[in-house]
Amino acid sequence: MKNQNPVGVFDSGLGGLTVVKAMRNVLPNESIIYFGDTARVPYGNKSPELIKEYSLQITKFLLEHDTKIIVVACNTATALALDTLQDKLDIPIIGVVKPGVDSALKLTKNNCIGVIGTTSTINSGVYETELKINNHSIEVASSSCPLFVPLAEEGWINEPATKLIAKKYLEPINLANVDTLILGCTHYPLLKEVIQEAVSTKIKLVDSAQAMASETTKLLMNSGLLNDQNAKGDLKLFVSDLPARFETVASRFLGEKISNVEKIQLG
Ligand code: DGL
Repeated sequence: MKNQNPVGVFDSGLGGLTVVKAMRNVLPNESIIYFGDTARVPYGNKSPELIKEYSLQITKFLLEHDTKIIVVACNTATALALDTLQDKLDIPIIGVVKPGVDSALKLTKNNCIGVIGTTSTINSGVYETELKINNHSIEVASSSCPLFVPLAEEGWINEPATKLIAKKYLEPINLANVDTLILGCTHYPLLKEVIQEAVSTKIKLVDSAQAMASETTKLLMNSGLLNDQNAKGDLKLFVSDLPARFETVASRFLGEKISNVEKIQLG
């Protein structure tokens, strides 16, 4: 495997572009191939079997582009398909849960951590399990926030309705004594301000996109796959559908103007 090969990144849709944004800040000379399954988003309410099948189709596509590692930039796919992917693929593949867990464990002072995510992610219990593997005395309070995904895509970042919904979803988090809250969905960094406003100012938010970018750097270094060429890496975006307002929404997640998008059909 050559270290000039691209890093493969995928998500159920566009939320994973928050991870790409963080990766392009810390790893500017890595080329990235991103796949967003925009035709089949959301994964958050689909069965584990279907999420595994979709994730396998996507990784097969990324491997055809000679990706040197694969980053699963979707909490739902990580929760339900990461083990299967790691069993079946020969290249390093990392998911977004562990980096978020590691950051939260470093931040918490009172060992009480909150997690928010899609219904599938929260129901899988993946965060609670991973937190307790590392420290069995950790207490976990979770809440699923399914409406956050369409609100982030709609760009309703600071609307009164979003603030009301955030207050309601975050009630169980406020009632628990958490001092750290994991944003367990790659769409949620866009709603960081509203989320912080809806919880106590003392609660520290863990943005898994940032944590994922640091973990990717570590993995590339440890596997000798860091791209040492001194040129800006390319970004190529593939999606399974080009919905209305695609460029506006995708640019919002990525924090830069979108170009180079190709629609392909999988499966
Ligand atoms: N980006 C997905 C995640 O991190 C959420 C969107 C979906 O439900 O597909 O879980």
